[in-house]
Amino acid sequence: MKKIIYLILSNLFIFIIYPIIRFTNKKFYEKKILPSVINSTCNSRPIQYQRKKVVPKAFGIVLEIGIGSGHNLKYYEPSKVTKIYGVDPSNELNKLAKDKASKYNLDVDFIVSSAEEIPLDDNSIDTAVTTFTLCSIPDSQKALNEIYRVLKPSGKLIFSEHGLSPDKFVANIQNGIEFFYPKISGGCHANKDIPNLITNAKFNIDNLETMYLPGTQKFLGYNFWGTANK
Ligand SMILES: C[S@@+](CC[C@H](N)C(=O)[O-])C[C@H]1O[C@@H](n2cnc3c(N)ncnc32)[C@H](O)[C@@H]1O
Repeated sequence: MKKIIYLILSNLFIFIIYPIIRFTNKKFYEKKILPSVINSTCNSRPIQYQRKKVVPKAFGIVLEIGIGSGHNLKYYEPSKVTKIYGVDPSNELNKLAKDKASKYNLDVDFIVSSAEEIPLDDNSIDTAVTTFTLCSIPDSQKALNEIYRVLKPSGKLIFSEHGLSPDKFVANIQNGIEFFYPKISGGCHANKDIPNLITNAKFNIDNLETMYLPGTQKFLGYNFWGTANK
């Protein structure tokens, strides 16, 4: 029952309330509403489970792409991680992440920048982490090419992302909401072909799992997670 109420309410917000606010007052929506929407939706229980599956695999010098409000920070193992670079263009989310970072024994440098141009040297990173971010990066192929460039030859890409469903009905919804969904979600495209983007950047995916996240709308909940090598 709780799950049904949650799904009804979230559809009401996605399809009616957020669009009304966004199309009435874009600046207010993007500065005051969107950061807390992203912060809270990215903290749902199914998403936390996904984080736990991938983030503890990070080691050495880590680059987190689209660190957002810092929900992954509590899943890093301080004994395995020497430094974290958190790249994200959002000042509002960066502020939230900085507050969280002070609670953990981690050395985190926040870089307010776009992943399409990462201000780091070639072959300098041991682990690149991307969770629920490729959907929102305008040129996610360019970002993955950049991740490939900065990763050491022995480096790993660790990911958990939502994207294009293999089910035609769900994929049609994902394609159908493109005309408004990115505008209310900070640029999130629900229909990205995640494995294809990763392999197009010359990565070899060595482990890939998929499922619909429980308690999540199917069009937003088809999840890909795993690791890839250079
Ligand atoms: C849905 S949030 C996910 C945040 C975080 N990765 C997490 O797992 O909670 C998407 C994130 O992508 C970031 N983003 C958007 N465009 C970006 C870009 N060009 N480069 C890097 N990050 C970007 C947003 O600022 C936001 O923090």
